[in-house]
Amino acid sequence: TSVKEKLFTQVAQPKESSGSKVTIVGVGQVGMACAFSILTQNVSSEIVLIDVVADKLKGEMMDLQHGLTFMRNVRVNASTDYAATMNSKLCIVTAGARQKEGESRLDLVQRNTDIFKGIIPKLIQHSPDTILLMSAIQVCGYSYMLDILTYVAWKLSGLPKNRVIGSGTNLDSSRFRFLMSERVNVAPNSCHGWIIGEHGDTSVPVWSGVNIAGVRLRDVDPTIGTEQDKEGWKSLHKQVVQSAYEVIKLKGYTSWAIGLSVATLAQAILRNGGNIHAVSTLVTGQHGVDKEVFLSLPCVLGENGVTHIVHQLLTDDERAMLQLSANLMHEVQSKLQM
Ligand code: NAI
Ligand code: LAC
Repeated sequence: TSVKEKLFTQVAQPKESSGSKVTIVGVGQVGMACAFSILTQNVSSEIVLIDVVADKLKGEMMDLQHGLTFMRNVRVNASTDYAATMNSKLCIVTAGARQKEGESRLDLVQRNTDIFKGIIPKLIQHSPDTILLMSAIQVCGYSYMLDILTYVAWKLSGLPKNRVIGSGTNLDSSRFRFLMSERVNVAPNSCHGWIIGEHGDTSVPVWSGVNIAGVRLRDVDPTIGTEQDKEGWKSLHKQVVQSAYEVIKLKGYTSWAIGLSVATLAQAILRNGGNIHAVSTLVTGQHGVDKEVFLSLPCVLGENGVTHIVHQLLTDDERAMLQLSANLMHEVQSKLQM
């Protein structure tokens, strides 16, 4: 008899799964920041990491496992084999390839589509009831392609639209609220504002709703966010867009903010929270968009994924900006080989 057998009398078979299993595909900068945020914020008690680079994958797994004593009871596993992801409630995809020099937008999306063909069906095969959260952000020159890749993942997965979500402008909105907080010197989560549309350059700030304690800044100063505004609040959105590029220029990539943003979305989903976040969802029929595209709008999140989209009262200009993004994205999507 082993020490274990001498120590314990088995009364029942332990359950294999915790019920809040999360898979993270891609253990790069974004994937590991997601993993670390999820672990330290007690979002899930079981994480599985997947990557194609076996050594790096094992190293990241071991490094996290060595810290488990300092967390609430969590299990961390890693494998290059998707069988390890079985019965995941949530699959977060951060894997992808960066733009090569001179590579066009379409070629980059196509290359990542081909990578997804090797990822998404395997995830669904082992976890048919999962929710997919896409955070494989692609940047080409000055345009991001997270929303297009979320559409690709939706098509490849065969899942209903509510169960495929892009991390979207949840991060852009957080950047906006941080910059706003610096202007008025209060906490970022006491500053309210929504960035919607495409993640990145062509995102749309909804100035009409920007408020602090329910006081709309547009009521305080009707020019806010416009060219006429003497205090230049409009530049906040420019800064939101530029700050991602600035971080990438300074440290090579962004990681912590996207990791925290994804962990917050994971929490809303796994705890069936009913929290509202700006995430990328199928927006056909919303705000006059007539194309099959994914864009961020405020959505109610829970165990069934996106359960509701909030009808924001947008201006004609804001609607036009969403429609323009939708048309441009649709053009790229129609050329993809899936
Ligand atoms: P990264 O390059 O640090 O990590 C990507 C990970 O995906 C690597 O560990 C790689 O081995 C893995 N991977 C590649 N193909 C895979 C496959 N078929 N199956 C499983 N794993 C695979 O990238 P990072 O920073 O984590 O970013 C995530 C995605 O966002 C990447 O596609 C990256 O190109 C893109 N991106 C990120 C930016 C950033 O600032 N973090 C900026 C621009 C693009
Ligand atoms: C960012 C990258 C991750 O906006 O898209 O930080």
